Amino acid sequence: MNRKILKYPNPILKKKAEKVKEITEEIKNLGRDMIEILEINQGVGLASSQVGELKRIIAVRFEDRPRIFINPVILKKSKETEVIEEGCLSFPGLFLKIKRAKEIEVKALDENGKEIRIKDNGLISRIFQHEIDHLEGILFIDRLSFWQRLKFQLKLWP
Ligand code: CO
Repeated sequence: MNRKILKYPNPILKKKAEKVKEITEEIKNLGRDMIEILEINQGVGLASSQVGELKRIIAVRFEDRPRIFINPVILKKSKETEVIEEGCLSFPGLFLKIKRAKEIEVKALDENGKEIRIKDNGLISRIFQHEIDHLEGILFIDRLSFWQRLKFQLKLWP
């Protein structure tokens, strides 16, 4: 495996990923690589765009092991929101408080094409929202409020 995690500001991170039409060997290999990268980096979530592939695949640590979710779609989002500190493997060392929906219901396919539905109001909800954002080319810094953004830019200023 010679895939690496792309770091911000790599332009691929801002691109939208395409729906997986068929779960081919190539897709399964990509999934396996993503799981391996997640393990090596002890991460909780990874999106395909972070390894330079614009396919709608995410890897999420779910029920204690990293799993692949293909074509994930958020079916429902609670109005209730929550602010939680997040990190991202494409932004080493950066942790930001991000406001997102508390509860979501998501559907996706596993590596065998079987549909999975998950409802969660904790860490899994948070990870899925962050990773599905990646597939849209949306990064966690794009979710900062105006004031947070100002602070963030000032901090990055030399
Ligand atoms: Co991320």
